[in-house]
Amino acid sequence: MEKEIIKVLLVEDDEDDHVLFKYSLNEIKVNNYDLTWANTFDAALDLIKKKEHDIYFFDYLLGGRTGLDLIQETVALGITTPIIILTGLGNQQTDLKAMELGASDYLIKGEIDAQKLERSIRYCIEQSRMLKKLKASETKFRSIFENSHDVIYLPTKEGKILDINQAAEQLFGYTRKEMLSMNAYDLYESKEEREKFSKEININGGCANFEVTLVDKNKNKKYCSLTSNIQRTAENGEVYQGIIHDMTLRKKAEQDLMVAEKLAFVGKIARTLAHEVRNPLTNINLSVEQLEDMLNEEQYIVYFDIIKRNSKRINDLVTELLENSKPMELRKAPTPIENIISGTVDLARDRADLKNIKIITNFNFKDKTIFADESKLSIAFLNILINAIEAVNKNTGVIKIEGVCKDDKCLIEIEDNGSGIPREHVKKIFDPYFTSKPNGMGLGLAATQNIIHTHKGTIEIESEENKGTKFKIELDLA
Ligand SMILES: Nc1ncnc2c1ncn2[C@@H]1O[C@H](COP(=O)(O)OP(=O)(O)OP(=O)(O)O)[C@@H](O)[C@H]1O
Ligand SMILES: [Mg+2]
Repeated sequence: MEKEIIKVLLVEDDEDDHVLFKYSLNEIKVNNYDLTWANTFDAALDLIKKKEHDIYFFDYLLGGRTGLDLIQETVALGITTPIIILTGLGNQQTDLKAMELGASDYLIKGEIDAQKLERSIRYCIEQSRMLKKLKASETKFRSIFENSHDVIYLPTKEGKILDINQAAEQLFGYTRKEMLSMNAYDLYESKEEREKFSKEININGGCANFEVTLVDKNKNKKYCSLTSNIQRTAENGEVYQGIIHDMTLRKKAEQDLMVAEKLAFVGKIARTLAHEVRNPLTNINLSVEQLEDMLNEEQYIVYFDIIKRNSKRINDLVTELLENSKPMELRKAPTPIENIISGTVDLARDRADLKNIKIITNFNFKDKTIFADESKLSIAFLNILINAIEAVNKNTGVIKIEGVCKDDKCLIEIEDNGSGIPREHVKKIFDPYFTSKPNGMGLGLAATQNIIHTHKGTIEIESEENKGTKFKIELDLA
C-alpha cells in the first residue's frame, strides 16, 4: 500500500527544538511527512494563509507573541486545519485555553517521541475529517430545514420551542427570537384541539395531517395541518419534531367554491320554482279578479283582500328569491373606505335610535380608497349592522365599529354585546335561508359574504353566547 504524504507546518522559534521535532517525525514509519518550518509568527501566518498543510504544530512561545495568538488568528481566518499546541511541562492552563480556542490537541515538549507524535497526528487528522463530514451533513440538513416552505419546529413535551425555521416568521409574524421564548401551545386557537393533538401524539408516538386552527401575532386565524412525532436524543431527552403546513389559502378557496356552488344550486332551484309558482299564481290572480267582478258584494271583499294580499306576498317572495340568486355584477370604482362605512352607519342610525342603543365608531382609514362597488358593499355592511341591532337589548345595547388600514389592507370590525350565536349555529350563519328569527329570511349574511368575496375580501366571525358577536372584514386597498 502506498504511504500517505502528510504536510506538516511547524511554527517554532528555537532551531534545536525544530531539529528534535524533525528527528521524531522521521522516526515514524507508517506515513511520509513533508515538514515545513516557520521560525516567526509572521512567516507562519503567511504560510497558514496559503492553506497548503494538513496539520499545524504551534510552539507556545513565539518571540513577543504566543501560540495562542496564532490559534486565534488561524481560527479567525476560517481555516479548519487541525492545530496541535506544543507546551512546557505543567502548563495545564495553557493547554486547556488552547483547546478552548480551537486546538485539536497538545503535546508536552521534551516528552515528544515518534509514537506519541504519530498517534496525535492520526487522531487530529481523522477528527478533522469527521468534523468536516459532519459539518457538510449539518449544512445540507440545515438548508432543507431553513428553506422549507412549511414550518419545521422542535418543541419539548411541555411545548417549549427549541428550534424553529424561518417559514415560521412568515406564517406567524413573530421573530425567531420571540418564538424561541414561546410555548408552542400558545399558537392554538382552542384548548380542546390542543389537548386532542397532545393526546393523540402521546398515545401513538406521532400523528399525521392533524387539522388545527392556529393564531398568528395579530390574532389572525391560520388553518394548518400538523404532522409530528417524538424523537429521543441524548442531549435534550424527549423532543418532538413538527411540521406545520399552512392551508389557509386552500381552505378559503374551497370555502369560496362551496359558497359559489351553493349559490348556483340555490339559484337554479329558485329559477325553476319561480317559474313553476308564477304560472299557477297568474291563474289564481286572473280568476280572483273575475270572481271579484261577478261577486261584487260587501261581505266578500274581505276574503278577496286576503287572497290578493297573500298572492302579492308569494309574488314578492319569488321576486326576492330570484334577485338573491342572480350572479352578482359589480360596478367598481375607487371609493374612500371612510365614505362607505360612515354612510352605512348613517343608514342604520334611525333603527339604533328606536331601540335606544349606542353605536360607537373609531376609524382611522387615512383617506385610503378601495376599488369597490359602493352600493353593494354598503348593503354588505348594513346587513351586519342590522343583525347587530336586532341582537342587542333595548337601552343597553352597544355596537362598536373599528377600522384601520395597514400595509395594503383595511380591516373593519363590527362588534355587538348582543345575544351571541350558539356554537353549533356559527358554521351555518352564512348559509342562504339559515335564520333563527321568526320573520327572518336568512339571506342577509349569505348576501354579505357573497359581496365581500366578490370583492376578494375575507369575512370572519367570533361569537360567544350571551356575550356578543364580532365580525372582522378585510379588504384590499386600491
Ligand atoms: N350579530 C348577531 N348576533 C347574534 N346572531 C346573529 C348576528 N348576526 C347574525 N346572527 C344569526 O345569524 C342568522 C343569519 O343572519 P342573516 O342576516 O343571514 O339572516 P336573518 O337576519 O335571520 O334574516 P334576514 O334575511 O332578514 O337578514 C340570524 O338569524 C341570527 O341567528
Ligand atoms: Mg339579517
